[in-house]
Amino acid sequence: MLVEVPQVLTEDEVAHCRRVLEETDWIDGKVTAGFQSARAKNNLQVPETAPQAQELQRLILQSLKRNPLFTTAALPLRIFPPLFNRYDQGMHFGAHVDNALRFPPTGGGPIRTDVSVTLFLTDPATYDGGELVIEDTCGTQSVKLEAGSAIVYPSSSLHRVEPVTRGSRWASFFWLQSMVRDDGQRRLLFEMDQAISSLSARTPDDPAVIQLTACYHNLLRRWAEV
Ligand code: NI
Repeated sequence: MLVEVPQVLTEDEVAHCRRVLEETDWIDGKVTAGFQSARAKNNLQVPETAPQAQELQRLILQSLKRNPLFTTAALPLRIFPPLFNRYDQGMHFGAHVDNALRFPPTGGGPIRTDVSVTLFLTDPATYDGGELVIEDTCGTQSVKLEAGSAIVYPSSSLHRVEPVTRGSRWASFFWLQSMVRDDGQRRLLFEMDQAISSLSARTPDDPAVIQLTACYHNLLRRWAEV
């Protein structure tokens, strides 16, 4: 399941991120790649432990915490500290699958990557190419979002970033371990949550809203690993 989460960051926050990132050293993106993906990866990253990255990580994680659409779609248990990458003209990332386990530099043991997130930080009018192409069970989808918006997708999917042919594409990317590891179960819960929200906005006093809400929580109780 792919879910677009608009406006995770405001325009001012995106501008702030870009100003901070302009001051950082960018290194070869292969540092966080696995064996197969290192062969396919050609981009730049901010070092995981750069102090500038840590400030932006806090900003992004706080924004995500107050975003109900992100929370409902991903049901996060543990989030890997967001990383930052950049594709200049000619750079790309060929088809790969994300590593199943990630070890956060902050410690605390491995995170199982159930959900991958890309948060776009560049106005799409300023670059060509650079689409995130995801092969989901529903087919192949090409994603290029406004600066400040994010895409949430299953880490199990094959995906790639198309070559940038003009300009430069900057983004934050990270993974999370979800309380519900199965993508199909997460999708059911997400669709149910959206339907309950829409129904309760129209007929808040309908007893069916309470029954469906109970079903949602009882399914989550059945499926959540915490
Ligand atoms: Ni990836």
